[in-house]
Amino acid sequence: MTMVSTSDAATAATPEFVPLSKHIGCEVKGIDLRKPLRPDTISAIYRAWLDHAVLLFRDQDLSQEDLIRVTGHFGEFAPLGRPAHTLPKGFSRLLPNIMMISNIRENGETIGALPDGEMMFHHDTIHREDPHKATLLYSVEIPTYGGDTLFASGTAAYDALDAEVKAKVEGRRAVNYYVYNSVVRGDKQGVDATSQAAHPVIRTHDETNRKAIYVNRLMTVKIEGMSEQESDTLLNFLFDHCEKPEFVYTHVWRKGDLVVWDNRCSSHARTDFPSDQRRLLLRTTVKGTSRPY
Ligand code: SIN
Repeated sequence: MTMVSTSDAATAATPEFVPLSKHIGCEVKGIDLRKPLRPDTISAIYRAWLDHAVLLFRDQDLSQEDLIRVTGHFGEFAPLGRPAHTLPKGFSRLLPNIMMISNIRENGETIGALPDGEMMFHHDTIHREDPHKATLLYSVEIPTYGGDTLFASGTAAYDALDAEVKAKVEGRRAVNYYVYNSVVRGDKQGVDATSQAAHPVIRTHDETNRKAIYVNRLMTVKIEGMSEQESDTLLNFLFDHCEKPEFVYTHVWRKGDLVVWDNRCSSHARTDFPSDQRRLLLRTTVKGTSRPY
């Protein structure tokens, strides 16, 4: 019997990279993520991810094992900080480190996290001392309209700031709260010392060395060392600036989409969707490789 190594068996497909907007997002075409990828293909995909902050793979048909394998191409798994869920119909199990994002309810209980409606712009886990670097979201069930995910380039927004604002925010740190389940900015409900963290307002990416605005409307509550009023004025200016349409790619989901985003240099938001339609996505996250600086 001839032994075939993983790299020999890996597909020789050559990906095509198609930008999704001027500043953020890139579709990767010609790749079937059910099949193992060659190391040079993984490197090309990773390079495109660093360049575009968000990658989209359409028309995938992934098992949970595939999702776990693909997550590994972006770094080390971040352990799941949530209890096991009730499983929806069609699922016999949920592998460790996969989270359900869903509004589906079984026996009156939500089966997943972030169930309903609109979410303001945020960076995943910015409330932690060691925020996750990447998030992967794979769509299983999608409503007929709404529930789009918007991605904003903090890098392009930083580059477009005028020198006066850059000088004002340089070296500043801001406090961020855990408020995913609220649409109220900086909602203090349930916030304690373990669910808040201060990070630089301008973050330097540890792999590209590019600077990005690292505050967001949902979770950032205050710039340290400023009066409440001065901080609010500056933060509101930065939120409005980051969310300008020219820095944003809006992703309209189709079943079988896998989207991978870089939390170090992009924020994201979600539009409302009908509460009587099912939405289910599988989510994994990748550990950060450095504390934000
Ligand atoms: C998230 O903010 O991580 C979820 C985004 C979404 O449900 O589209």
